[in-house]
Amino acid sequence: IHNVIFKSSDYASVIIANEIAQLIKEKQARQEHCVLGLATGSSPIKVYDELVRLHKEEGLSFANVVTFNLDEYYPMDKSNVQSYHYFMYEHLFDHVDILPENIHIPDGTVLQQNLHQYCIDYELKINSFGGLDFQLLGIGRTGHIGFNEPGSHYNSVTRSITLDHLTRSDAAPSFFGIENVPKKAITMGIGTIKKAKRIVIMAWGHKKAEIVKETIEGKITSDVPASYLQRHNNTTFVLDKEAANELT
Ligand code: F6R
Repeated sequence: IHNVIFKSSDYASVIIANEIAQLIKEKQARQEHCVLGLATGSSPIKVYDELVRLHKEEGLSFANVVTFNLDEYYPMDKSNVQSYHYFMYEHLFDHVDILPENIHIPDGTVLQQNLHQYCIDYELKINSFGGLDFQLLGIGRTGHIGFNEPGSHYNSVTRSITLDHLTRSDAAPSFFGIENVPKKAITMGIGTIKKAKRIVIMAWGHKKAEIVKETIEGKITSDVPASYLQRHNNTTFVLDKEAANELT
């Protein structure tokens, strides 16, 4: 992993948005799809703000963009304000010219008995577009990427998982109590993510400093799933000063 440290997450987010915009334009020039893997949560919000600005003020088109979101709570209604589905429309999709049929977000309403097949189909759908050109990631304090919690296998694919207690407690404020946070989620696997041609992972703020250190400087272990990224040859970890605080 190669890491870059910025004074503020504002500026860092603009740099990341610019890289994505550049890729979209290069693909446009070649009349190709640009396949983006997207994250939710607090970390990517300013990246999406800047992409929306580039669309509204600088004519960046998303007409050739295909997106696959990393994860969704399970079970979860799309209309629920806590859903990742809702988040993506609110922060990005409602404000750009992406084609509705090019948007893919794991569906938290799939029936239990159809879930296994649904996950297989999600994985196949990503592959049918030639895989992810670019994957945007945040990191959880458990070391999860997507919702690949500790114990996730290096070759794991899209599947349903049980969320860690720490992950649920970090999500508790937005759900008005941990008892309201779903116990499960659907997530792309480590194997899905690591096939992306380019990965940018972000961490902002002092609360992430410890897990950032373990991810970048620690050994590669399923206890810290993000550490698997050390084996990916085109990953950049973008940090603000606070998140980089513990690095040697
Ligand atoms: C969200 C996701 C998660 C988050 C992580 C950090 O789609 O896949 O891995 O990136 O939990 O969340 P924030 O950015 O809220 O600190």
